[in-house]
Amino acid sequence: MNPDQQRYAVFGHPIAHSLSPRIHARFAAQAGVALDYRAIDAPPESFVAQLASFAAGGGRGANVTLPLKEAAFALCHDTSAFARRVRAVNTLTANAHGSWRGDNTDGDGLVRDLTGRHALDLRGRRGLLLGAGGAARAAAFALLDAGVAELTIVNRNPERADALADAVAEPARVRTRYWDDLSNCGNFELIVNATSAGHGGAGLALPFGLVARRALCYDLSYGAAAFAFLAWARAAQAGQAIDGLGMLIEQAAESFAIWHGARPDTDPVYADLRRELPLHASD
Ligand code: ATR
Repeated sequence: MNPDQQRYAVFGHPIAHSLSPRIHARFAAQAGVALDYRAIDAPPESFVAQLASFAAGGGRGANVTLPLKEAAFALCHDTSAFARRVRAVNTLTANAHGSWRGDNTDGDGLVRDLTGRHALDLRGRRGLLLGAGGAARAAAFALLDAGVAELTIVNRNPERADALADAVAEPARVRTRYWDDLSNCGNFELIVNATSAGHGGAGLALPFGLVARRALCYDLSYGAAAFAFLAWARAAQAGQAIDGLGMLIEQAAESFAIWHGARPDTDPVYADLRRELPLHASD
């Protein structure tokens, strides 16, 4: 490693296909930061030890992805208010004295992609959130903070949906419904797929009637994992069907800003990666 380079990393398991090293390299080139940002494969049982060794070797900060975000939250000495609500951390910054500060930039990344890149006005929208895992938690808090009028949370395991609604604690705006009852839920102007179902290549068998006229359908995944949901959304005549590539880049930009004090221009990075990861399977 060049001693002038600042050492950062992304930890996850698996991590081989992470785009984060490329995204941060592009941001660093823009900002004139000498950066060594690597992907580190860390199974949950050795994550804490690997993070300590990374810090001992001069690591200043790290992104954290599946399945380590809750473990990252647990090891932080201090955390942002949003990370405490989500109970998950995707951005670690080394404090003096060897402890970690934890932030969660996923929610901000989602809202910036929706409202900035895709020019969606979230205020007043009726939203449907599919899923109640870690990704869904960040999305729920961020969408409500950004002003969606109401949010219906539906999860295969209904107890997790109820637990998320309880954590949000806004009964006037948030309700849960059973997955089997989706055909009786009315329609929605914003539908966010926060399930991991697409990673197995499976579709979700959702009723077309969920999609309101000109609705925006958004999958937090990108690449092949989003294809089934986006194909469903187009078949249901959604106004827009978008994957989570923009969210990935925006959450990275927020992390970069926390570490380096400058928010990069995400548009050229998005344009380049979009060419490699088209929204349609056939493109
Ligand atoms: P993440 O951090 O990516 O959200 P997670 O916490 O494991 O990962 O959550 C995965 C989400 O995808 C959950 O909401 C899960 O539903 P359950 O809580 O019922 O397990 C959802 N999910 C995964 N596969 C699914 C499928 N085939 N159909 C519907 N929901 C699915």
